Amino acid sequence: MESPFSLKDKCILVTGASSGIGQRVAIRLSKEGAKVIIVGRNQERLSETFSQLSGEGHISFVADITDEKIVKEGVASLGILHGVVHSAGITSHIPAQLIGKKQIDEVFKINFEAPVLLNRFLISQKKLADGASLVFLSTIATLHPYYGGALYTSSKKALEGYCTTLALELASRKIRANCISPAMVETPMLEKVTKTLSPESMAVMKSIHPLGFGTTDDVANTVLFLLSDASKWITGANILMGGF
Ligand SMILES: NC(=O)c1ccc[n+]([C@@H]2O[C@H](COP(=O)([O-])OP(=O)(O)OC[C@H]3O[C@@H](n4cnc5c(N)ncnc54)[C@H](OP(=O)(O)O)[C@@H]3O)[C@@H](O)[C@H]2O)c1
Repeated sequence: MESPFSLKDKCILVTGASSGIGQRVAIRLSKEGAKVIIVGRNQERLSETFSQLSGEGHISFVADITDEKIVKEGVASLGILHGVVHSAGITSHIPAQLIGKKQIDEVFKINFEAPVLLNRFLISQKKLADGASLVFLSTIATLHPYYGGALYTSSKKALEGYCTTLALELASRKIRANCISPAMVETPMLEKVTKTLSPESMAVMKSIHPLGFGTTDDVANTVLFLLSDASKWITGANILMGGF
């Protein structure tokens, strides 16, 4: 009998696969026997991910997923999916008094609007198998505010609210939707954040992580669990990672 943790022959779409968490997730999924469809904007880094995939039958899409038309057409070209990992996202550091419409649009477009519209096309074009699993990358910062984080945390909090309702609406088909909210994970996104902080602030950041900063494998392990049938009774959840 196949292990409930097996991902063999599942077809999984991963956004943000050209970097960080999405890249690691895609590579690990392929090692576990899944077929992956990877999406990112940067062709060179997406090809680098593709070259590290195990097995055959994977597909790579270079696309800006804030472009609704491209996403709609891209979804139409897909076969049936058993899972989606919404990892594409950007961080933002801007004090509340400087937030304008331009900044709101920029952050919400990729962190909230893009996954919502991608799901809409996947559902309306009947691309999700019964029992499929949708995983969203939120952040523990929705619970632990930081200076300049109003836009980033609001966009992720909106995603969390969306995810719980989506879970309810898709439950009759046993399709599940869950969030993962990691603390700081060592990726290019964290490098960008580090550049904006003084060494003292960075030391404080480290000190509030009882288990240290996370690795992309730490997050990938939880993503893989949520994509597998071992988690088939978990939906509408938000798994906090990082120990605080
Ligand atoms: N790292 C952390 O500490 C941390 C903690 C909690 C939550 N998260 C969340 O985890 C997710 C992944 O973060 P990460 O650290 O892996 O970030 P990352 O290394 O900066 O990677 C971000 C990914 O998102 C893609 N992306 C951004 N805008 C896009 C767009 N318009 N269209 C298509 N793809 C786009 C990037 O593609 P290109 O590079 O090709 O443009 C890249 O592949 C994010 O949603 C983030 O909010 C991260």
